[in-house]
Amino acid sequence: MTDRSFKVALLGAGTVGSQVARILTEDAEELASRIGSRPELIGIAVRDTTAARDTTVDAALYTTDAEALIDAADVVIELTGGIEPARTRILRALSGGAAVVTGNKALLAKHGTELQRAADAAGVQLSYEAAVAGAIPILRPLRDSLAGDRITRVLGIMNGTTNFILDAMDSTGAQFDDALAEAQRLGYAEADPTADVEGHDAAAKAAIVASLAFHSEFTIDDVHCEGIREISADDVAAAQADGYVIKLLAVCELDGEGVNIRVHPTLIPRKHPLASVRDAYNAVFVESRDAGELMFYGPGAGGAPTASAVMGDFVTLSRRKVLGGPAIPDQSHRNLEATSLSRVVSRYTVGLHVKDKLGVLARIAQVFADHGISIQTMHQTKHPEHEAGEPETTIRIVTHRTTDERLEGTLAEISALPTVDRVTSIIRVEN
Ligand code: NDP
Ligand code: HSE
Repeated sequence: MTDRSFKVALLGAGTVGSQVARILTEDAEELASRIGSRPELIGIAVRDTTAARDTTVDAALYTTDAEALIDAADVVIELTGGIEPARTRILRALSGGAAVVTGNKALLAKHGTELQRAADAAGVQLSYEAAVAGAIPILRPLRDSLAGDRITRVLGIMNGTTNFILDAMDSTGAQFDDALAEAQRLGYAEADPTADVEGHDAAAKAAIVASLAFHSEFTIDDVHCEGIREISADDVAAAQADGYVIKLLAVCELDGEGVNIRVHPTLIPRKHPLASVRDAYNAVFVESRDAGELMFYGPGAGGAPTASAVMGDFVTLSRRKVLGGPAIPDQSHRNLEATSLSRVVSRYTVGLHVKDKLGVLARIAQVFADHGISIQTMHQTKHPEHEAGEPETTIRIVTHRTTDERLEGTLAEISALPTVDRVTSIIRVEN
């Protein structure tokens, strides 16, 4: 081990940053042995230096002057979140020659190319394992372990908050809002949980995964994204009755000459391995030409698990810095385009609220047939007799495989029927 220490600046001391500060403090000796040089935590940038903090960390380290910290650091760990000022600060660190670790998927999914180019230009390392699936090592396997293979599809549960909510709705009958509040209390949710619930967080991760898996540059704008806010207790119960569970899946797959990247709620059979992913756990399936099917599973969110991924990056890039090895440059040479969702083929379950009268089912079935969509099953809910007004009912249709485009045309026509009140849900079905 060298006698020299190297300087570490930590930006952020929230759910993840506080755990990183704890590990840097408590494990200082062990980290020094693993890295071959002593990391010196020179400061922690926060917004409010008077807030109550973890007492194991020296209170004198907290500062609001992030720029001064960055300029003095050899390694910067960014755990503040959001686009600005995180982007400007990371660019400042890289151009100043500091290696950077970040877990900021929102930033990477929007400005990843810019940040990677800045790192390449400065010849320093930019690492972000924590940005996808919390503690699960998935980005390094995609970038390094599978570097000699050809990945064809990545499919996974990449958001802990929504998995926690859907699992609670499925297993305990919890209401959506109660399950979300509990996920926030446990530190799984983003500062603004809309990013979780609307699927944007999973979409950001899907863009990062697709970029590495397919050696191309994708942003969150390339991802088709649907969230779980519209999933009702009725949808969950209907899925249960048919032997399915609803999960928010992220899918990145080769599609002709391009890559289709999408996030949406999906019905999966209860015997599917992803169906057993509970609470805030994540799981990522990778399918490749030579390795076949691989599955990565573990805690997808939370302070300590995410800090584990941050520290893995930190130790790896610090060792490289101490040894003087070159940084790994960008590998996005394939330049594949993102493809449109319209031609993706899937099975669907469709919920319709309709008038309960002669010929309604037959008319709906005819519209499906007219659009070339074959119905696999159809189920009508038995409602109590109505005292007044026309009786109404809910029907659920499961289709055979069809395209999104075809289903859209079908449902536009069905919605216009006078006997159809509304389409209550459209959820894809995975085998
Ligand atoms: P928190 O909201 O819990 O913490 C954010 C921290 O950053 C706080 O300490 C806050 O200071 C500080 N901060 C925010 N803005 C600024 C600013 N402009 N200048 C200085 N400090 C600032 O976030 P998390 O710890 O949950 O997340 C951090 C990052 O890690 C995010 O990018 C997130 O997406 C990512 N991530 C989070 C996971 C999780 O499970 N929570 C999992 C994987 C990735 P103060 O304390 O004074 O308010
Ligand atoms: N809010 C994110 C989630 C944190 O729930 O998965 C981990 O990225």
